[in-house]
Amino acid sequence: MKKAILFCYSIHHGNTRKIVDAVAERLPVRVVGVPVREEIDLGEYDIVGFASGIYMHVIGKPMTALIDSLDGLEQKDCFTMYTCGAPGNGFDAAAQDPVKAKCARYLGNWHCRGFDTYGPFKLIGGLAKGRPNQSDIEKAVKFVRSLLEQ
Ligand SMILES: Cc1cc2nc3c(=O)[nH]c(=O)nc-3n(C[C@H](O)[C@H](O)[C@H](O)COP(=O)(O)O)c2cc1C
Repeated sequence: MKKAILFCYSIHHGNTRKIVDAVAERLPVRVVGVPVREEIDLGEYDIVGFASGIYMHVIGKPMTALIDSLDGLEQKDCFTMYTCGAPGNGFDAAAQDPVKAKCARYLGNWHCRGFDTYGPFKLIGGLAKGRPNQSDIEKAVKFVRSLLEQ
């Protein structure tokens, strides 16, 4: 099985982090929080992933900055993951496009809803309460496993 490094930006409820930590428990995946505070050699990994919450329709700014500045991404196969409050897949392009523009080969995207108490949603008890749940986790693991087994 291939080995991946998965960068994670998760600042609201730790929704995205919950997903990537569960993935890392079950697969050969190293999770690194963003902003990155250590030396990273992408050469040690077959695949590079980027997981973020969605904030004002886009992935976290520190994640975009990382994608722009990461040495060696041009030679790598990459994937993306995101969590968002809204239903549907309206943020696919926002999550994918920065990575697609830089990597050698884009492998795919996975997303699910994540508990959202931003702004007015707090007043109604939040959106997507209880998400991500165990079913989301299983789907995320299946997605990453399929990439590592390619
Ligand atoms: C400042 C802010 C802005 C957000 N903007 C959106 C948005 O535009 N669309 C959406 O569906 N969810 C939005 N959300 C909800 C988050 O995308 C959702 O809760 C996500 O799971 C957060 O991931 P995290 O807990 O890993 O940070 C926003 C949350 C915050 C805090």
